[in-house]
Amino acid sequence: MKQIPFTYDKSEVNRCLLCNDPVCTKACPQKANVGKVLRSLYFDNPLSGAFLLANVDCTYCNAPCEKACVLSKSKPSVEVRNIFMALKEDIKALPEAKLDKVDISTDICGVKLENPFLLSSSVVASTYDMCKRAFEAGWAGAAFKTICNFPQHEASPRFSAIHSHSVSFCGFKNIEQLSDHSVMENMEIFRRLKKEFPNKVIIASIMGQNEQEWTSLATECEKAGASVIECNFSCPNMESSELGITIGQSEEMIEKFTRATKKGTSLPVLAKMTPNITDMVPMAKAAKRGGADGIAAINTINSITGVDLHTLTAEPAVRGKSIIGGYSGPAVKPIALRFISELATCNELKGMHISGMGGIETWEDAMEFILLGSSSLQVTTSVMQYGYRIIDDLIEGMKHYMKGKGIANLKSMIGAAAGSVVGHTSIERDTIVFPIIDQDKCNKCGRCYVSCMDGGHQAIYLDSKTGLPKVDGSKCVGCHLCSLVCPMGCIEKAKKAIKANH
Ligand SMILES: Cc1cc2nc3c(=O)[nH]c(=O)nc-3n(C[C@H](O)[C@H](O)[C@H](O)COP(=O)(O)O)c2cc1C
Repeated sequence: MKQIPFTYDKSEVNRCLLCNDPVCTKACPQKANVGKVLRSLYFDNPLSGAFLLANVDCTYCNAPCEKACVLSKSKPSVEVRNIFMALKEDIKALPEAKLDKVDISTDICGVKLENPFLLSSSVVASTYDMCKRAFEAGWAGAAFKTICNFPQHEASPRFSAIHSHSVSFCGFKNIEQLSDHSVMENMEIFRRLKKEFPNKVIIASIMGQNEQEWTSLATECEKAGASVIECNFSCPNMESSELGITIGQSEEMIEKFTRATKKGTSLPVLAKMTPNITDMVPMAKAAKRGGADGIAAINTINSITGVDLHTLTAEPAVRGKSIIGGYSGPAVKPIALRFISELATCNELKGMHISGMGGIETWEDAMEFILLGSSSLQVTTSVMQYGYRIIDDLIEGMKHYMKGKGIANLKSMIGAAAGSVVGHTSIERDTIVFPIIDQDKCNKCGRCYVSCMDGGHQAIYLDSKTGLPKVDGSKCVGCHLCSLVCPMGCIEKAKKAIKANH
């Protein structure tokens, strides 16, 4: 399938509030699932959205969905009709894709997963009811909220966020600790989940205070029905300096506590790593020496998301004070991908499972983790924002992509892009790829000119007659800052040319 140049207005889609019980859906005279279509577009899965509109025609509709839109109380409604008309036009000749033959099953060290998507250990997987609803929604399993033998002492409030478009999180900080249920209560939850959902995978995330505790927690979790153990060597929010992130920064402690965990169980063991280090590879090797079967990465990144300029307090402020806490969500994805790539390409770690996480929100994010070497995927922050329902577009979006590329099996894609990341001396530096500006699409905003003048090589000038930007090839170094700042998407890459001095 060729890439479809979708023309619906994504920024307009992003204004949608993704309501819990969308009034737009109820208002549609043609009974279209308007809310679900908008959600698919929001999560970059337009094909699923488009196929839901197969028998819907908005041409002569006066759009009661827009009149019902909850935004209309204070702002213009989302322009649903325009979005849907453009979408239908975009895919008009496309037959509906049959996705049933696309296999996205995978496994964790031999434990079968119906799809690669798991809840990561956090509040999103902390009760029986939550896991039950997530499993029913389609998640393949859950890494349960970290279980321990010591009491938790939580602060309130405990989150802060940096927003991108609308109210969406770009990055998210938490100062939350571990499970607030006793080990006994959590084991009862495992038993119920295992009985009622035998095909779903329960990963028991554990944290001990000493070797004996790591061993006994692993034993109890296996007995209660867990299929995989995940050692939390990475929580940044512990009050004791002997726990969580401190372990994840010490090869010696990682090896010792992994070994202790393996002693208590015959299940596969993952070591969950902190990104608050320069190099994760030595830590992963230590886990391997201790007997770990895989690595889970990344936990959250130490952060301060902001300071309130009126109260002069860092956020989240707890009675006038804050602490450094764990950062997650879309902003951390590039850092997570870098760690996954380094783990996946290390020869000494070959054969270890990699469970990737950090900022997965759409199927595209998910696919990137797979392509760089993750065999399973875990998600928290986007579930906290949007709910378990995001699983629909994660699964369908991934399947549409694979179908379009003629890939029948997700496993064949694991690590397929790992070889594209090379060392600094191995990248080709002898050619220039010049930008081409599509003069018909350009709206003359001049952003490319400003950036090239002040952040580039003064290679773009404005034509004195037309005001359109032009490239001076004698100055251009092909950095492509211009195409990154262009709001119209009208700057493309031309053929490469050999540099003058080569
Ligand atoms: C509120 C919150 C609580 C978390 N609690 C835990 C935890 O108990 N154990 C753990 O291993 N990781 C915990 N994490 C880290 C997540 O499992 C995950 O590694 C991290 O958030 C990156 O993924 P994300 O960007 O999808 O959220 C927590 C994260 C958040 C946001």
